[in-house]
Amino acid sequence: MKTARSRGSLTRNIHLVKWVEKTAELTKPKNIHWVDGSQAEYDKLCREMVASGSFTKLNEDLWPGCFLARSDPSDVARVEDRTFICSLSKDNAGPTNNWENPYTMRRKLKEKFNGAMQGRTMYVLPFSMGPVGGPMSQIGVELTDSPYVVVNMRIMARIGIDVFKEIDKDEQRVVPCIHSVGAPLAPGQKDVPWPCNLEKYIVHFPETREIWSYGSGYGGNALLGKKCFALRIASNIARDEGWMAEHMLILGVEDPHGKKTYVAAAFPSSCGKTNFAMMVPPTGLKDWKVWTVGDDIAWIKPDAQGCLRAINPEAGFFGVAPGTSQKTNPNAMATLSRNTIFTNVALTPEGGIWWEGMTDEPPAELLDWQGHQWTPEIAEKTGTKAAHPNARFTAPASQCPTIDAAWEDPTGVPISAIIFGGRRGATIPLIYQAFNWSAGVYVGATMGSEMTAAAAGEVGKVRRDPMAMLPFCGYHMGDYFRHWIKMQRSLSRTPRIFHVNWFRKDADGKFIWPGFRDNMRVLKWIVDRVHGRSQGKETPIGWTPHYEDIEWKGLDFPKEKFEKLQFVDRAAWKSEVIGHEELFILLHAHLPPEMIYERELLICRL
Ligand code: GTP
Ligand code: SPV
Ligand code: MN
Repeated sequence: MKTARSRGSLTRNIHLVKWVEKTAELTKPKNIHWVDGSQAEYDKLCREMVASGSFTKLNEDLWPGCFLARSDPSDVARVEDRTFICSLSKDNAGPTNNWENPYTMRRKLKEKFNGAMQGRTMYVLPFSMGPVGGPMSQIGVELTDSPYVVVNMRIMARIGIDVFKEIDKDEQRVVPCIHSVGAPLAPGQKDVPWPCNLEKYIVHFPETREIWSYGSGYGGNALLGKKCFALRIASNIARDEGWMAEHMLILGVEDPHGKKTYVAAAFPSSCGKTNFAMMVPPTGLKDWKVWTVGDDIAWIKPDAQGCLRAINPEAGFFGVAPGTSQKTNPNAMATLSRNTIFTNVALTPEGGIWWEGMTDEPPAELLDWQGHQWTPEIAEKTGTKAAHPNARFTAPASQCPTIDAAWEDPTGVPISAIIFGGRRGATIPLIYQAFNWSAGVYVGATMGSEMTAAAAGEVGKVRRDPMAMLPFCGYHMGDYFRHWIKMQRSLSRTPRIFHVNWFRKDADGKFIWPGFRDNMRVLKWIVDRVHGRSQGKETPIGWTPHYEDIEWKGLDFPKEKFEKLQFVDRAAWKSEVIGHEELFILLHAHLPPEMIYERELLICRL
């Protein structure tokens, strides 16, 4: 393998070249391609994928620069049961992660990767999470045999020559990431549109900061900068270095005087981060503006003054398509209108795309996400969805109409409030504020959310998803709570902590709160509280707004309904605390004492 020749002049880093050679010896690719990150390279890869049948080019007049990919029906989402944290000791991974002995796992992976890239090109893809060279940014190199991964990563991260230059400075540790779809090609064997393997391994080695991913080409399984690096590995780095890697959106609220307040919010997967990050305020609050910094991940670090500053380590949005519409999220619709890669949405006869919820009326005929004929009549009879429920768009953040002026500031934006939120049909009010930092950590740690695809009969079945990090924390969850508690010591002013729930239902099972743009009314109260402009009412669980504290202009929402939405049912909260207990028992040996004290205080107040 003539690695030295093929690398051209892209890097002088000998460690990188040696690692690439070693990986090529193991995986035996046909070619090695060093990714320069240029538009020309991106265009060429897209053309090749159109030619091979992996991509469909959409109608240039309707969807300029856009492509559709259809995945294998077995490879449509993250696979939590195939995700491993292989720390040296099992205790370090904790009971909420799958663990395997790192030596055993390495042996297994060597077997799996042996010849895994045969007949394919191995791409050497350098990427920076955060602006290249920024003080809060981190670098990785992904070796992948998937051109789909390369073009998606070009949207989701900063990649290419500038990152090689950064690596050549040899000042920063680089996180090695190895990815194969696990589908080697024999000589002359014809490829399929979406190669993958039924057996999947998404593996993290926290001590050596390595990622190995095998068998999947989809989303967080394959775009390794995202959940694998920016959360599971970065949470380990952050703990060691005294900062935080969180599953949070970041937004800036501009008040009518032009003053901006930044907040970060953690909601579990598919619970409204992208929608909240791009919110358009309702007409009654049209003097207020929401600016988007990020929609999924936040890296948060105390600065020299003891203020928490956050960057969005990503450069694009990998957003849920179904449900996204001109009505619910016009900013997302504008963002994805061009230069976007769609995965598992439906195709119209005109070369356009569609998904459930995009318009009120579905088109008369479509090819569904698997490429089969689809009509509303067929759907009614068989229940087939046109788009997969986890269909996604990959779109550049820079195309978002509300992208914040400081979204690429390498030192981040100052965070004044942290918001936790889950999907809860009962018990949890629309909004409350924790009494202080440690009470707030308790609120985040005990956060629950209804599983989104819960089967009938399981209504109200809540899974604990601490800080929305259950699938993403790369070490023991109890130690993670301790890290949160400890963070307060590096802060001169701690952000205020809130909890929201857009999903409380009435007796008829309907959402009480209109949600979406009306969430601005809640956000305004949060900002008012941060700046000491609103009194708040004390309840056993925290501070809540009086009816009069919320701006109601343009919305008919009677006081009685608001009281229902905010009602703290002491009996229901006592059962809630028993739910907290289930998680705490699991984490017992590593649980910081503050969590026990906070629970006792809560019980006393109830
Ligand atoms: P991931 O990308 O998986 O991390 O998801 P996300 O947290 O970014 O969720 P997203 O914004 O894509 O929203 C997921 C679902 O929640 C969509 O079906 C939305 O329609 C729904 N949703 C978002 N905000 C609201 C709201 O305020 N009220 C209600 N009722 N539903 C909402
Ligand atoms: C999530 O599941 O929270 C996502 C999608 O944002 S993925 O990138 O696949 O993890
Ligand atoms: Mn997410």
